[in-house]
Amino acid sequence: MSPDTPPPGVVRKAVFPVAGLGTRFLPATKASPKEMLPVVDKPLVQYAVEEAVAAGIEVLVFINGRNKTSIPDHFDKAYELEKELEARGKQQMLEVVQGIVPPHVSCVYIRQAEALGLGHAVLCARPVVGNEPFAVLLADDLVDGQGGSALSQMTRVYAEHQTSVLGVEVVDGPEISRYGVVATDDDDGDTALINGIVEKPPATEAPSNLGVLGRYILEPRIFELLENVPRGSGGEYQLTDAIAALLVEQRVLAYRIRGRRYDCGSKLGYLQATVDYALKHPELREGFRDYLRELNANGGLRD
Ligand code: UTP
Repeated sequence: MSPDTPPPGVVRKAVFPVAGLGTRFLPATKASPKEMLPVVDKPLVQYAVEEAVAAGIEVLVFINGRNKTSIPDHFDKAYELEKELEARGKQQMLEVVQGIVPPHVSCVYIRQAEALGLGHAVLCARPVVGNEPFAVLLADDLVDGQGGSALSQMTRVYAEHQTSVLGVEVVDGPEISRYGVVATDDDDGDTALINGIVEKPPATEAPSNLGVLGRYILEPRIFELLENVPRGSGGEYQLTDAIAALLVEQRVLAYRIRGRRYDCGSKLGYLQATVDYALKHPELREGFRDYLRELNANGGLRD
């Protein structure tokens, strides 16, 4: 084994596709990626990075789009700001700014010149990921994990089974038609073997109520399959199509993530996350709860 190969069962690289157009959030996403939208006081992408670092990831690979500077700037050292905070004695803020990425973790930025779809974005990471398993985190899916971060839960499953794992959640009702949906066998309640996957099926044709959310651990074989997928739904190269090809060759597991997922790519999901995270925030929760109570008492929540 070369020193560059991780031990079996270990995932040390994570890909963050942040090159989508974010049309549902225009004009907020005109000059800045949607992954930079803050939930309370942190951008979505930072929550995802913290989740990955908590799961033991050491290399963060960002697939950047046309607004290419704000994410590297966010994770880069900010000399002037740090000097200024130091000069003003704002030690706590200085630590917050300096601690965004721990020193043992490195960041790599790759440009996706055109938003050709999630599958294409993941393929852009190939030169950095190479021939090892890797995670993919879609930062606009914010997951408040229970019993460890969502990705830590999945890396535990990967360590045990050493095969690709997709994070899924139970979705009841017509909402399922907005997800990639898996068909499964051998379901033990936590994990199940996937035998089929379809992107955004009509609700009546969904093969199960298990919707894929934005957390994946994938074997590197996916890159070769991605090179060969034709343009799929919406004229984009779909990751789901390559996963459909992967599961014909290899075992791919679905893991029901414990925790709550917020679809922060939609305005409603984003607002729900903002409210819930504010109600948990040590500085805000009291004042914000009082505000919501007052709003309710004054009839502000009535039709
Ligand atoms: P979405 O399907 O949410 O698309 O992408 P979008 O373009 O970002 O948003 P809307 O639908 O227009 O509002 C899912 C994830 O894949 C990334 C996005 O940044 C998001 O994290 N993505 C998508 C890319 O990195 N490149 C692409 O070409 C497409």
